[in-house]
Amino acid sequence: MFHKIKQISKQFHILILIIIICCFVGCGAQKKNVSQIEEDDGIIVGFSQIGAESAWRTYNTRSVQEAAAERGVQLVYDNAEQKQENQIKALRSFIAYQVDVIVFVPIVTDGWDNVLQEARDAGIPVLVTDRKIDVEDQSLYAGFIGTDSLKEGRNAGLFVLDTFKNEREHFDNDKEYINIVELFGTEGSSVALGRAEGFRDVLETHPEFRIIYSKSGDFLRSKGYELAVEFLEMHEDIDVIFSHNDGMTLGAIEAMEERGLHPGTDIVIVTIDAQQEAIDALREGKVNCVIECNPKTGSEIIKLAEKLAAGENIPRIQYVHEEVFYETDDLSLIEPRGY
Ligand code: AHR
Repeated sequence: MFHKIKQISKQFHILILIIIICCFVGCGAQKKNVSQIEEDDGIIVGFSQIGAESAWRTYNTRSVQEAAAERGVQLVYDNAEQKQENQIKALRSFIAYQVDVIVFVPIVTDGWDNVLQEARDAGIPVLVTDRKIDVEDQSLYAGFIGTDSLKEGRNAGLFVLDTFKNEREHFDNDKEYINIVELFGTEGSSVALGRAEGFRDVLETHPEFRIIYSKSGDFLRSKGYELAVEFLEMHEDIDVIFSHNDGMTLGAIEAMEERGLHPGTDIVIVTIDAQQEAIDALREGKVNCVIECNPKTGSEIIKLAEKLAAGENIPRIQYVHEEVFYETDDLSLIEPRGY
């Protein structure tokens, strides 16, 4: 009897949750995946994703949705369309209707203290994924799973150091700088900050390198194209493009080719994500190094959410396995990427 009442009450909560999310965030049917909610006794996870700005992101969302479906976890999905305010609203709606666990990809590092305090007051554990946050009280979230962006930036820096070893040796004589353009990801996001920091960490003791242009393209292919049109107009002597994601890189390649330039030959290109199109470009010699950012985190996320729902502890930080693909590798060995 008690079980039946509990189940009816849970179904009622789910129904209200659907209505509230729609009201708060102003959803369209295709934007919300709340129809995935099923009437059973599995745990309910509220998942706030930042949007669909890249092939990487779309795959990441699917990875979480599929893993939840496989394990019978009810996922309440919200797409924040690149707005932190939408994410905060979604988190509040998850709290109001007492989901078992909240999982979210924070678009930027700052501004989460209040809403996470609300989640804690409601007794709902929070798992942060993909991007990190900066909160005063670290115990406001249970753990993080995702990419090591500092390491990605360092790997990009090491590749550049190695590629220009001859030029570096002669630098003292001719003072010919190695000029770098940086396509920066979303400002204030931990991944963009980490990639930028790791890259600079490696190059800071090498005065022969200088970053002559760095602007945010928000991880968007269209903005990568626009920025490339601008920096190619401004500078004739670019040696390297360090791009925080493949989407922006592919846009920049398009702009270069329109100007008759040969990406990968006229300008060395190092990019992050390793989506299929970037691997294809590596094979064609249009890109010189691709650093993997692994979006296939769904099943690990759902397992961690299940542990949290069961009151278990999870690791504080869990980085996913990531590789680096160089132009000199045997590229025939790279498996289809899936994104
Ligand atoms: O946070 C991960 C980054 O966000 C990926 O590198 C990028 O493609 C995405 O949009």
